[in-house]
Amino acid sequence: MGEKHRGEVRVLSQLEGEGLTELLTVCGLDELPVGAVRGVEHEGRRIMVVNYEGRIYAMEGTCTHEEADLSMGFLLENRIMCPLHFSQFDVTTGEALNPPATLPLRMFNVQIQGAGIYVEVPEP
Ligand code: FES
Repeated sequence: MGEKHRGEVRVLSQLEGEGLTELLTVCGLDELPVGAVRGVEHEGRRIMVVNYEGRIYAMEGTCTHEEADLSMGFLLENRIMCPLHFSQFDVTTGEALNPPATLPLRMFNVQIQGAGIYVEVPEP
């Protein structure tokens, strides 16, 4: 099961003609061991981070089918299973692997700075 967390943010960049990207502080590396899932809320938006085989992946944390919080689902190897209707998503690509969800999850860049995990979150 995922853990709820409210991240801190700072502005990462605002390139001309492009939207704002913020750097969201998630947690320390030691707080997300292999196989762990963590949900972060940022301005009403759910972000999910996963440690799959020692690599950190970040993506939208709301299922593309309905409003389920995927960080409350189950991680099975590289797949997170939605707790509501059991669609599975590949956490390395965001791809929806079985219905009822068909649309992929949006993926985000992850930065590791020191011992911390940060996610680059562009405007929706
Ligand atoms: S809400 Fe996730 S599969 Fe329906």
